[in-house]
Amino acid sequence: MIEINNPAAQEDPLEKLREMRVVAQAGGGPERIQQQHEKGKLLARERLAMLLDEGSFQELGALATHHITDFGMAERKYPGDGVVAGFGKINGRRVAVFAQDFSVLGGSFSEVQSQKVCRIMDLALESGIPVIGLNDSGGARIQEGIRSLAGYGALFTRNVLASGVVPQISVMMGPCAGGAVYSPALTDFTVMVRKISYMFITGPEVIKTVTGEEVTFRDLGGSVVHNTKSGVAQFMADDEAQAVLLVKQLLSYLPQNNAEDPPRVTPYDDPKRMDEELNSIVPRDDRLPYDMKEVIMRVADRDSFFEVHPYYASNVVVGFGRMDGYSAGFVGNQPSHLAGVLDIDSSDKIARFVRVCDAYNIPIITFVDSPGYLPGVAQEHAGIIRHGAKVIYAYCEATVPKISVVTRKAVGGAYIAMSSRQMRSDLAFAWPTAEITVMGPDGAVNILYRREIAAAANPNAERARIIAEYKAKFHNPYAAADVGQIDEVIEPRETRPRLIAALEILRTKVSTNPPKKHGLMPV
Ligand code: HXC
Repeated sequence: MIEINNPAAQEDPLEKLREMRVVAQAGGGPERIQQQHEKGKLLARERLAMLLDEGSFQELGALATHHITDFGMAERKYPGDGVVAGFGKINGRRVAVFAQDFSVLGGSFSEVQSQKVCRIMDLALESGIPVIGLNDSGGARIQEGIRSLAGYGALFTRNVLASGVVPQISVMMGPCAGGAVYSPALTDFTVMVRKISYMFITGPEVIKTVTGEEVTFRDLGGSVVHNTKSGVAQFMADDEAQAVLLVKQLLSYLPQNNAEDPPRVTPYDDPKRMDEELNSIVPRDDRLPYDMKEVIMRVADRDSFFEVHPYYASNVVVGFGRMDGYSAGFVGNQPSHLAGVLDIDSSDKIARFVRVCDAYNIPIITFVDSPGYLPGVAQEHAGIIRHGAKVIYAYCEATVPKISVVTRKAVGGAYIAMSSRQMRSDLAFAWPTAEITVMGPDGAVNILYRREIAAAANPNAERARIIAEYKAKFHNPYAAADVGQIDEVIEPRETRPRLIAALEILRTKVSTNPPKKHGLMPV
């Protein structure tokens, strides 16, 4: 309990509460608050004020303190114990929030922190309310030993039980170490703030001792590393204000929980709008790239595309957008990066996004232009089979409306994995530029005509002739349309109205999976 020394407050219960509240607002005291500001970081309460609708915050556990006496901790009690937690509203919609206070013992995670965060998560889960965590913590509070570890265990359990029930978003706003990174890793989305946020299991000092490697905090676990290399974070913000804006934007596409549909915004773009530019966006030469992001942006409601994981595995594009005001998830191979090939990282990116959409009742639109899975020893040995299987698993498992549009290459594994008809997609469209084949022409011709080519007077000329013939016959969408694998070949400019009409038909789609405890997705 906090000690209040003011005699007047001792006698007046209201005065006592008011004073306790003042102490609770003070966090780790003026010196540590100043240090936080000098690092260019806001305080927990300042962050919450920026995130929540004005006057909406309802705090819980503001007066809770720890009961640890080892390591001189009896003298280091701070009301709230380094985390500010409660409920509030963002654009009028309810959210559960917690913000760690680095000015109190480095925001380290304690038994009391755990109790407070778990409490709001339990309430949020029962009431179907998203949870947003603003993380700024040195990890398990070392002075609390096993109590703090147990606290993490309780938190991770909540994260997992809430997974796919209510959206969970983590914002990293400081150096988050040890256990402080695993709760965010279990949530749906992680936002990192440039220059002030880090995530690592063990810091540079420990790494140097164990492996001899020398690395800076930034190069080990900075926002760029986790957004571009590890894929741990889906978003990178320039500063805290932008991070908060990203969270608000992200929430606008999501429902409050898995039993609801995402909110519809008032449509402001013509659902019948044709886009003439799309008719010429795919170059005639199929070796030339174009930007799939542009395709998505032209098809979705104007300015509605919100890219997820924009800096990671750029050979695929994923993100939310709106179609006639309704939320939709977009997936597209990106021909302008590695020709849109599917590799390990892009498979992870697609599978994760598809599962998020499915969990939160968001229909998925997939634009296909990929030559297939990436060949190579490195990919095979790193498990492209296992990781690539995740894409197949995620699409087959998803019961939300699913529509695919083949814009150009849909070759072999890429055709079948990318939301194909036989993998429970509802509707499959193709542009006239589509090339739907079981294998690329070189590979197919080498297998089918090996002897003829070898026996020819000029093998190279013969190979080129047969490849040209193969392309002329099979590099189109019509063989697939002929056997019903493509529902309709459409003009690219018609894509938006056709998709909006299709989504309208599918809005009442009912599809379920067989009863089971859970599937065994290849991980
Ligand atoms: C207790 C901690 C702490 C922690 C920081 N502090 N981390 N106190 N437990 N885990 C305290 C510091 O002692 C200091 O207190 C104050 O917070 C501010 O810390 P600084 O080091 O001055 O800040 P800064 O220079 O910004 O460095 C931040 C930091 C560094 C990079 C996070 O503090 C750090 O390396 N902390 C330890 C990180 C770590 O190894 N965590 C793993 C814990 S074990 P004073 O009073 O001196 O100002 C773990 C296992 C869980 O988490 C596994 C679960 C799966």
